[in-house]
Amino acid sequence: MSEISGKLLVWYDKYHRTLPWRIPPGDSKSGILPDPYHVWLSEIMLQQTTVTAVKPYYEKFLKLWPNITALAETSNESVMQAWAGLGYYSRARNLKKCAEYVVSELQGRFPDNETELIKLPGVGPYTAAAIASIAFQQPVAVVDGNIERVFARLFTINTPLPQAKVPIKEKVAKHLPAARPGDFAQGLMDLGSSICTPKKPNCLLCPLQDICKASKLGSQESYPVKTPKKVKAKRRGAAFVIEDMDGAIYIQKRPETGLLGGMSEVPTTDWNSNQDGETDIQSAPFSGDWQKRGEIRHVFTHFELSLIVYHIKVDIRPTLNGWWSAQNEIEGEALPNLMKKVVLKATDRKRK
Ligand code: ADE
Ligand code: SF4
Repeated sequence: MSEISGKLLVWYDKYHRTLPWRIPPGDSKSGILPDPYHVWLSEIMLQQTTVTAVKPYYEKFLKLWPNITALAETSNESVMQAWAGLGYYSRARNLKKCAEYVVSELQGRFPDNETELIKLPGVGPYTAAAIASIAFQQPVAVVDGNIERVFARLFTINTPLPQAKVPIKEKVAKHLPAARPGDFAQGLMDLGSSICTPKKPNCLLCPLQDICKASKLGSQESYPVKTPKKVKAKRRGAAFVIEDMDGAIYIQKRPETGLLGGMSEVPTTDWNSNQDGETDIQSAPFSGDWQKRGEIRHVFTHFELSLIVYHIKVDIRPTLNGWWSAQNEIEGEALPNLMKKVVLKATDRKRK
């Protein structure tokens, strides 16, 4: 075992975060492994999403679908509803596809190695490594943003990210302990989130301080070196919230593919990653007494969207192709956060 992994594991035993998908470090030492379903579900949810945001969703999913067979057998619609608000919705579609595949083709058992795991829908190189290492004790290097930061500092890696990903992964592989690779990965994640933070890392409390080159030089915050980001494209459009006299709101379903595919929405003009939509009431689904209620901004991976929000109260429900969602049902709709914000802005309701 390298000095880094030895010290890190001792620290992890004592200071690890208790998270609902984890087993205690003591268990892993006696060869007990976590349920691969739990590890897979949590790792998919944690892609580009914080631990705090994931926790309640993870718990909700386990309650609704305690095992992979239950998830495979439920409807796509209920998975999209349960995922609503967590973002990056292609993850939810792939989650369902993956569960169906594992149940129908692999007798409900996840593969135990990176090569086979990476073939599953929604499982990329990072997630395959994380599942292989945490759920199956495979000696593979797991590298997420936290781990990149810790290693870039430990070894003052001057190559900027993303080019530094390869040399960092090699370093992590070199220090991987054979016995507890999953705890090593999760220990580095915990160190990165609690001590070796992006700003003002707390080196005095760090178990790796006497090995760390950046800390010796006092240059922790200069690492990891990054290539400057491109400025994001900006897009505009309008959203139309139609409310009847009982407070029910008109909702429709987006196409299955593309941005926010398969999720629900209120009518909008045609904005997408390549073009702006119209922003005035001329483009509303029908003419009437539309009131402008303000603007909602939302940041997507490749662009920033600004939607002008219009609201109308109708005596008679117009004939449209979607459905009406009563006030007490709206929370259960598969509305992405953007659409939840639009509805709240239009109706002055408070978020529950
Ligand atoms: N981020 C991604 N995977 C994680 C895990 N297993 N524990 C904590 N944070 C994570
Ligand atoms: Fe990060 Fe400081 Fe620990 Fe180095 S000593 S790994 S910079 S917290």
